[in-house]
Amino acid sequence: MSQGSGDELIGAVRNALNRVHDPELRQPITDLGMVRSITAGDAADSGTRITVGIDLTTAACPLRHELKSSVEQAVASVDESIETVVEFSVMSPEQRVRLRAKLRGNDGSPVIPFAQPGNLTKVYAVASGKGGVGKSSITVNLAAALASDGLNVGVIDADIHGFSVPRMLGVTGQPTRVDSMLIPPVAHGIKVVSIGMFTPRGRAVVWRGPMLHRALEQFLADVYWGDLDVLLLDLPPGTGDIAISVAQLLPNSELILVTTPQVAAAEVAVRAGALATQTSQRVAGVIENMSWFDGPDGTRLDVFGSGGGQLVSAELSETLQQDIPLLGQVPLDVSLREGSDQGTPVALEKPESASGEVLRSIARKLVTRPRGLAGMSLGIEPVR
Ligand SMILES: Nc1ncnc2c1ncn2[C@@H]1O[C@H](COP(=O)(O)OP(=O)(O)OP(=O)(O)O)[C@@H](O)[C@H]1O
Ligand SMILES: [Mg+2]
Repeated sequence: MSQGSGDELIGAVRNALNRVHDPELRQPITDLGMVRSITAGDAADSGTRITVGIDLTTAACPLRHELKSSVEQAVASVDESIETVVEFSVMSPEQRVRLRAKLRGNDGSPVIPFAQPGNLTKVYAVASGKGGVGKSSITVNLAAALASDGLNVGVIDADIHGFSVPRMLGVTGQPTRVDSMLIPPVAHGIKVVSIGMFTPRGRAVVWRGPMLHRALEQFLADVYWGDLDVLLLDLPPGTGDIAISVAQLLPNSELILVTTPQVAAAEVAVRAGALATQTSQRVAGVIENMSWFDGPDGTRLDVFGSGGGQLVSAELSETLQQDIPLLGQVPLDVSLREGSDQGTPVALEKPESASGEVLRSIARKLVTRPRGLAGMSLGIEPVR
């Protein structure tokens, strides 16, 4: 191969590599400084061989096979007859510092992007009064529905003592560390972080308020979330430390309240929602879960009674003096429970099922709602 044609080919390969995105960082590998070298030479069959040197963020990169095949495809798009060799190595500490600064877009110091002025990510905290009403199941399904509609979605499992999101989304990996920054694992197109990724299997987390606050702060500031359309936080039940930390760290976050139809559950949910008056958070709406069960013979059973969602919506509208809609009623559905156990959310796997359909319609309501200023803290101080 002549020098000139070699240079031209390398240029064409570099262009093609601009289209290869790092699976976790979702940016072109050429921009991220991951392409160390591209060299052209002769293949054994007297054709052309291109060797692409890639620097990974970490030696244990779980997605290196995915990256390798994307690089091979990109080179093949230039010329199918080229033999491609991908050589992996790992970024130096200096490269990682540069990458961190590039991703953060500043000197690399941690800030909570969602709390910055002008940030457009919609942040929803999924809360309830009582435990076990389906917050986590609803969080992962809303996230999955939004991601499959093409939005950039992140989920924080903020239920630090009772984390369950990794299982429900089928995430087994851990965040990748780039210097002091964490790159979240991606499942079903959703970026996910949970304390469950940092604790040994089966070990309980015994933390008090300040540590919980710090953990949440790290999830928000030290994790590279990229440009998210929606961030969902799965909260523990009730109005404890974490719910208050969320309100402090993310004053623009909106609450989604989950309740069952049972009046006892609804009354507790109203109290959880009323927290919004003290934190100045907006309440986006109420979701009633486990609303009924449709038996195989077509009979409908109100297993947990009826009316809870409507009651929470009406009472909170009254207390907060604004319309708090009932966003939807999700029936009891075996496929929802199975999907959660298997890490495949029903809204993705069985979107036509009774629960899948409602969850998808609720997800659409969340992104089409206008971003009003009601209930938002405007950070205005009186002039003395
Ligand atoms: N609509 C539904 N149909 C069938 N099973 C459901 C439904 N909603 C939730 N479940 C099941 O109920 C259980 C509790 O749900 P989930 O863990 O989502 O509740 P939670 O409110 O997050 O609980 P916790 O308060 O403990 O965090 C899970 O086993 C889940 O699979
Ligand atoms: Mg939960």
